[in-house]
Amino acid sequence: MMAEPAAALGVPLRLLAEAPGVSAAQVIPDHVVGDYTDLATLEELVTGCRVVTFDHEHVPTDHLRALAASGTAVRPGPEALVHAQDKVVMREALARIGAPVPRFRVVERVEEVADFGFPCVLKTSRGGYDGKGVWFVGTPADCAPAFEVAERSGVRLLAEEHVAFRRELSALVARSPSGQSAAYPVVESTQVDGVCREVIAPAPGLDPDLASGAEALALRIARELDVTGILAVELFETDDGVLVNELAMRPHNTGHWTQDGAVTSQFENHLRAVLDLPLGSPVARAPWTVMVNILGGSSGVGGRLYDGYPHALARDPRLRVHLYGKEPRPGRKVGHVNAYGDDLADCLERARHAAAWFAGELGNESE
Ligand SMILES: Nc1ncnc2c1ncn2[C@@H]1O[C@H](COP(=O)(O)OP(=O)(O)O)[C@@H](O)[C@H]1O
Ligand SMILES: [Mg+2]
Repeated sequence: MMAEPAAALGVPLRLLAEAPGVSAAQVIPDHVVGDYTDLATLEELVTGCRVVTFDHEHVPTDHLRALAASGTAVRPGPEALVHAQDKVVMREALARIGAPVPRFRVVERVEEVADFGFPCVLKTSRGGYDGKGVWFVGTPADCAPAFEVAERSGVRLLAEEHVAFRRELSALVARSPSGQSAAYPVVESTQVDGVCREVIAPAPGLDPDLASGAEALALRIARELDVTGILAVELFETDDGVLVNELAMRPHNTGHWTQDGAVTSQFENHLRAVLDLPLGSPVARAPWTVMVNILGGSSGVGGRLYDGYPHALARDPRLRVHLYGKEPRPGRKVGHVNAYGDDLADCLERARHAAAWFAGELGNESE
């Protein structure tokens, strides 16, 4: 999705693809297929590149340090990115700078989890995404899978209080190496089984002081951790204000609405930021934008995707559709839709209908 603004700006991209034919490889001709955990592959890839950036955070921190040491501009840099790679490092750094975080503790044995207190949430420090690496536990017996995964992958385990949040919010900012920052409106996000389902921009009914406080918090985290590019701060809204759940330093699912709903998309501002160009306006183009993810159908059929276009596009000429060129599998994110306008209920109905239609959750009577 960075390829689109890169084309408009005339910025050439070179891609390290993890497998032939992955989404990004379909739209970036200058790509090599290789393993992002292999330093030699990375060194060869970056030869001749002005700047290196990421669309996930799993490139080993030490490899990024090696690239930076040999003179490549790595943005965000490894010392910033490690806070998005490792949830223990992130929690400790946020606590250090006084950002509000859930109560947490690194645990090595089940007895320590019991000591921390059930029910709670266990998380692997590294390697998780879309709820993989997160366990809600109520008894010592529930903890076994988390400890097994942590041990097998050689990562630490974090215990966290189970936060009774009202809802989840996301504060998205862009920051350039020279320090310019831009904050997008704070959005509401809904996760189902740890996977982002829906985003409403801006978060409906959000207290204005809480909204500006969350923006200021995200800007401060970006500055204190020296982030370049997009920083997404996932937040829990509680009765006593917000708590930071986690950080992502790349264009984030909760910012996909900006492609059609903001003056400058998160993908363009990520590019501008890592290239140290002036940032574009993060202001919303319409009172409301709703983003709904399209997941592969639960029936195993996978959904309609391209066959869904005639109905979806005819029903709603203002609908914006983004499909990723992925083979639909149950639960896999294969695209998203954005609907923007003046009326929230209308945007929600249009976006939810289209996503359900593409996912094959609606019958043919909707045609
Ligand atoms: N401490 C917590 N209390 C309550 N819910 C949580 C907590 N931590 C995570 N969750 C839920 O699980 C989801 C995924 O957790 P997260 O830490 O963001 O992992 P991931 O890296 O998979 O996104 C969150 O969006 C939230 O819905
Ligand atoms: Mg998350």
